[in-house]
Amino acid sequence: MASHPRSSAFFILQLSLLPTILSLQANAAYYDISPVECGCPDQYEVTMRLYLHQFVAGPNHPNRNEEFVIASSYPNGFGTTLVNDWYLTTTPSPNGKVIARAQGIHVQAGTTDANSWYTSFNIVFQDDRFNGSTLQVMGIILAQNFGEWSIMGGTGEFTMAHGNIKFRVDTRDSTSEDAIRELEIRAVYTSITQLAF
Ligand SMILES: *[C@@H]1O[C@H](CO)[C@@H](O)[C@H](O)[C@H]1NC(C)=O
Repeated sequence: MASHPRSSAFFILQLSLLPTILSLQANAAYYDISPVECGCPDQYEVTMRLYLHQFVAGPNHPNRNEEFVIASSYPNGFGTTLVNDWYLTTTPSPNGKVIARAQGIHVQAGTTDANSWYTSFNIVFQDDRFNGSTLQVMGIILAQNFGEWSIMGGTGEFTMAHGNIKFRVDTRDSTSEDAIRELEIRAVYTSITQLAF
């Protein structure tokens, strides 16, 4: 036995680790995350940085690209609904080339908070590269200067898209009329090109 000093040392090490291992098991996570091994030849990931221009509604805002469609008499404006046709460019300048439009709605859906907006819209691309393809977006807009939306689907180039959009208000370039949000778009999709109608 004297010829195996390392194995007895190993045994002692194992004993000393036992309480740690048991406590790790007691606190075992209720979830597990692992990478998906996927041999999907037609799957792609796209990332984009775009600037969303919300020309806010209001009588003194002739360039507005959203309109009130449902007014509310409930506390906190609960139920107030606007339709939006915001647009996206590649730089903070509102005069840049329009890459896509964000067409949909936002609804004040907070009973205890005046700024808890539900939004869903289509990002409809109109540039040369992705013309006609869309991303379906859904999420929350709060009073804070940043947030995150889900990408729930897509069409055309972006068929079966899923991903997210992280955004923050560009406080430096925004004006009283144009609320500019910098968007970091990330989506995985399966491009389906064989069907043509
Ligand atoms: C995008 O597609 C529409 C409809 O097919 C077409 O009228 C328009 O010229 C296209 N725009 C670009 C930039 O290719």
